[in-house]
Amino acid sequence: MSILKQPFFYDITLRDGNQSLKKPWQLSEKEIIFNKLLELNVQAVEVGFPHSSEMDFEACKYLASIAPENLVVSALARCTEADILSVVNSIGHAKKPRVHVFLTLSPFHMKYVLNKDPMEVRKTAIGAVSFASDKIKRANKNGEVEFSVEHFGDCGENLDFVIDTLQEVVKAGATTINLPNTVERTRIKTFVDMIEKVYNALPKHVTISAHNHNDLGMATAATVESYFAGAVQLECALNGLGERSGNTNFYEVAVALHNSGVDVPVDLSKIYETALIVAQMSKVEIYEKAPLIGPDALAHRSGIHQDGALKTKDMEKGAYRPIHPSLIGRKDDEKIGLTSQSGKTAVFEIITKAGYPITIQEAIRLTPFVKEAAEKVGELPTRNIIDIYFREICNVEGPFKLVNFDHIADNKFMVEFNYKDKKFEMTGSGNGPVDACMDALKQAGFERKFLYYKQMAMDEELLGSGAIAMSVIHIEGNDGSKVIGRAIHKNTAVANVKAIFNAYNLIYKA
Ligand code: KIV
Ligand code: ZN
Repeated sequence: MSILKQPFFYDITLRDGNQSLKKPWQLSEKEIIFNKLLELNVQAVEVGFPHSSEMDFEACKYLASIAPENLVVSALARCTEADILSVVNSIGHAKKPRVHVFLTLSPFHMKYVLNKDPMEVRKTAIGAVSFASDKIKRANKNGEVEFSVEHFGDCGENLDFVIDTLQEVVKAGATTINLPNTVERTRIKTFVDMIEKVYNALPKHVTISAHNHNDLGMATAATVESYFAGAVQLECALNGLGERSGNTNFYEVAVALHNSGVDVPVDLSKIYETALIVAQMSKVEIYEKAPLIGPDALAHRSGIHQDGALKTKDMEKGAYRPIHPSLIGRKDDEKIGLTSQSGKTAVFEIITKAGYPITIQEAIRLTPFVKEAAEKVGELPTRNIIDIYFREICNVEGPFKLVNFDHIADNKFMVEFNYKDKKFEMTGSGNGPVDACMDALKQAGFERKFLYYKQMAMDEELLGSGAIAMSVIHIEGNDGSKVIGRAIHKNTAVANVKAIFNAYNLIYKA
């Protein structure tokens, strides 16, 4: 078991990520990503594969020249002198340059791709590391060599051979040994056990590194567990860019380690803005369900989750999220999406957030209407929910229909209405329209206890049709409960009377 050291984030976006893009980045684009990596405070950047093209050589050269003192700048080379010299010539002038040479040691790959005998492959690896070490140290006293066992994940059957080779490779000058699951074929537990075995077999000055591809979606887990097994260097890519299904996602590893109590030397608050820029520049969209950064990563649609999420909204630990969004610099709140699976909490939250008054009692009443609509169309836009609110809260259908309301004289008002098929034309008197309307209803045989009245000033844009206030009336219901009537109208007296009729309809239609 390893004694935990602080993780060392080695970013491979500009190499493994870049080589997988439909249009690999030019120097100016690489520079933008490089600067984002510096803001994130990564410890090492693999800036490219300089022997792949003149353009990449120039990009590596330039990025090495602007790298800060404490950053390890690395570039990739196959085990050939030409590749290694390209690395030395392009990044040798960085403050801390590293030649990253790789060769497969997997039985399958050595046999079918290299067509070489394992001992011959071992010799090539040792020779390349020795050559790289000599050249980079001549160019720069801080120069170092990393050796990668390509397809290490496939080396279960010849692990002893791999370990013996790595011991020789270390003697030849490699100080970092990178162990990739180049294609994710191996179970995490098996892979991590292999990492641990190599860690235990090599001298302690050697840094063990994990490099996982995400073919089966296990790269984050494999990388995180490799860290706990001794792999201090973690090779990750922004937005999980990389060959096929990508490399290990940088953000997921950093946050998972942070959540495990590890001191992560990365500015996590830069994650979200970085992710957006990388998506834009790589033309690889962030998929809806992407952990941490996806548009849906903060969305709750089931009633149970919505309830828990809202109850813990401002807390650092949330009921249904791994982190507070602000940890990674996300400014958007947890999103409450209303579908047929949602409940009253969502109705209440969405309507309140849109600026309309509603009580939880009203939200409970509205929920079946909203869910019924959502069953047909799926997640309802806020506008549709507000339309239902106006229909079911501000224009309640029922046995009462207000036909006309007029001020006759002094404290007298005419109230013309229907109750079912019966017509009423009453003159009510009172101290204002509310009083007079209640009096008219009493005379017609519909006496009710009046509890409360308020006019709420509201933004005209929210109400529409020239209204600037909402009338709220509370009337006692049959069981002594409070029944709320709301209404809007550009004439406030009419709004008051409509609110009374809305409350009456709720009471009498039951
Ligand atoms: O996936 C891999 O094996 C690699 C090596 C070149 C390190 O990217
Ligand atoms: Zn890779």
